[in-house]
Amino acid sequence: MGFDAPAVDYDRFMGRYAPTLSVALADCADVHEGMRVLDVGCGPGGLTGELSARAAEVAAIDPAPQFVAACRDRNPGADVREGVAEKLPWADDAFDAALSSLVIGFMRDPDAGVREMARVTRPGGVVAVCMWDVATGGMRMLGLFWDAVQRLRPDVEGEAWMPGGAEGDIAERFTRAGLRDVTSGALTAHADYTGFDDFWEPFTLAVGPAGQYLRSQPEREQAAIREECRRLVPDGAFTLEARAWYALGTSP
Ligand SMILES: C[S@@+](CC[C@H](N)C(=O)[O-])C[C@H]1O[C@@H](n2cnc3c(N)ncnc32)[C@H](O)[C@@H]1O
Repeated sequence: MGFDAPAVDYDRFMGRYAPTLSVALADCADVHEGMRVLDVGCGPGGLTGELSARAAEVAAIDPAPQFVAACRDRNPGADVREGVAEKLPWADDAFDAALSSLVIGFMRDPDAGVREMARVTRPGGVVAVCMWDVATGGMRMLGLFWDAVQRLRPDVEGEAWMPGGAEGDIAERFTRAGLRDVTSGALTAHADYTGFDDFWEPFTLAVGPAGQYLRSQPEREQAAIREECRRLVPDGAFTLEARAWYALGTSP
């Protein structure tokens, strides 16, 4: 699935989870000073920034040109390229670690993406991937939205089917790709909202599957979804938790 939204719209919708999720994923992969690290599907560069603060050499890649430009601006020391996970433009064993946050669900061929991440990681280096828990609604922002939609239209599938969105799916892909010592679990991120409008308006920007679904609906339907969301979301300022499934493995 393509992302053509401007980086600032992504920031308002999903980027607000990047500060906490990036730290959790980088900690889990033990990214530290002196490492050569790759961020696959970097978007506007939330994780790239966390890696740049920790590692010696950071590279990043994304197919969306406006995200590549934003990631370059925000991370001037990083080697940021335009391209896809399934065909990484780096040599075998180029990195000590390859990470990817919230991307596997969008890859055309997620298993090929994992194999490529393993290929560019040196033997014994770490591959780490995470994706929101969209299968059981542990990513509350998306869970609330799809709950609202499905109250009105129970036949709508939402994004629960996405690769990586169910517990254990990323680990299975890692094992299939030949990664060793595969472990998996959950990471927790969160974001603060000043109130309902701060929650709702980013959905109207058509970023990602939820926003694009909303945009595809007639105005009356959009208003009904908004009203359902209004009922589900707390009054006043609130914080939403977001669970992501992750897997970690070492390159053979
Ligand atoms: C939800 S965003 C995640 C961005 C960023 N990693 C983050 O955590 O905020 C998904 C990103 O995956 C990128 N993407 C989609 N298909 C891809 C592919 N085949 N290979 C690499 N990145 C891809 C999109 O352009 C988008 O930037």
